[in-house]
Amino acid sequence: MNQRLKTDFLGFEMENPWCVASAPPTATGRLMADAFEAGWGAAIMKTVGPVEEPIINVAPRIQTMKKWNREIAMQNIELITDRRLSVWLDELKTLRKRYPKKMIIGSIMAPGHDMDAWAKLIESMNQVGCDAVELNLGCPHGMPERDMGAVCSQDADIVYNIVSTAKAASKVPILTKLTPNVTNIKVMAQAAKRGGSDAITVINTVNGIIGIDIYKRKPHLSVNGYTAVGGISGNAVKPMGLKCVAECKQQTGLPVSATGGIANWSDGVEYLLMGADQLQVCTEIMIRGFKIVAGMNKGLESYLDQMGFDSISEAKGDLYKSVTSFETLLKHSSSEKVQVNEDTCTGCNLCVVACDNAGYDALLLKEIADTKRTQGTRKVAEVIVDKCTGCNLCVAVCPVPECMSLYDSKKAFPYQLDPSYSENTLR
Ligand SMILES: Cc1cc2nc3c(=O)[nH]c(=O)nc-3n(C[C@H](O)[C@H](O)[C@H](O)COP(=O)(O)O)c2cc1C
Repeated sequence: MNQRLKTDFLGFEMENPWCVASAPPTATGRLMADAFEAGWGAAIMKTVGPVEEPIINVAPRIQTMKKWNREIAMQNIELITDRRLSVWLDELKTLRKRYPKKMIIGSIMAPGHDMDAWAKLIESMNQVGCDAVELNLGCPHGMPERDMGAVCSQDADIVYNIVSTAKAASKVPILTKLTPNVTNIKVMAQAAKRGGSDAITVINTVNGIIGIDIYKRKPHLSVNGYTAVGGISGNAVKPMGLKCVAECKQQTGLPVSATGGIANWSDGVEYLLMGADQLQVCTEIMIRGFKIVAGMNKGLESYLDQMGFDSISEAKGDLYKSVTSFETLLKHSSSEKVQVNEDTCTGCNLCVVACDNAGYDALLLKEIADTKRTQGTRKVAEVIVDKCTGCNLCVAVCPVPECMSLYDSKKAFPYQLDPSYSENTLR
């Protein structure tokens, strides 16, 4: 075990920041044990609900979206655990004995109107020696119809009631897991803090429908021709996750357990830099298995080496503080222009098409002498400086790393648009 990866989370010293999220990879005690053996620092049991709630899943309930043969997103319409609470409690007790150095986190869900049910579930968790309990207020499908899951974190009063009930009953720290499917997650995070939550977990899955089979003319996730809005997870939801981590951290200052789109070590580092304190993974494990944690540890270690950090806590950032309003951005803006590195430009034309068809018409291809050959020329991109507004689209589409870049043109800001842009363009 590499000492430098040790991470303190809610007073528990995890051997690394990686945690298996509450989901199919933690559907049984045996799976959680497999995760620990593979090297995960923590695991959160698949959410358990009130005993009297029947949990019946539909089939199929999982579908992925691929780009270039790689899964970038997943939709699921799976419910919480369909196993008995008593079996779970036995398993959690055994896990506690076997893995004293692993962080074991319970996960519970009950209706938003039934505080007795929440308190009962917390009492059950109190019996088994979990290090913390996560309140699942985020499941977007199946459970909301029963007043559970996402509906519980779409109303600040309900968040407050649940968290304060759980906090009063719990012997261990409480994490409140919020849905991203709200207009303003800060309000929900604040209500969780008011209720006494020790940490926030964001995000549960994002509402969505993964796609349509255009020839069979039915949804990719089809239950005999019908579908339902489900939860989207996987790498594609990382931008929503980063946004929610930033906003919850800004609003509450509480520790944040980040979940949403972590597919490798560097996704995790992005969350750490944003301000997260623990890193949960679900979809990537579902696709590639528990063993990915070895590569994620290796990646983290070499990142620490490269950056000269001695520990994860040293590597953590507070970029959530830099997430600000558009008005503030205007105050900090300068007059940027793009420049082209002619040595590395391949003349592929992608930037020219983008600039031509998406705005400002500020790029063209020109011929220059090809110095690698004794005679002949090659094409490179050229910027029409007066037309460039520094929007960054060409930098974003350029396939050659650091071939195109922005620089401060030192001209007055806001930029002056080329006169042709303001004239009638259809004359
Ligand atoms: C099939 C499936 C089932 C899930 N079940 C639960 C659950 O029971 N409780 C819960 O809190 N989150 C559940 N989640 C959400 C995950 O814990 C996680 O928050 C989400 O998938 C985002 O992380 P990811 O992009 O790494 O998958 C589930 C996700 C998937 C894909």
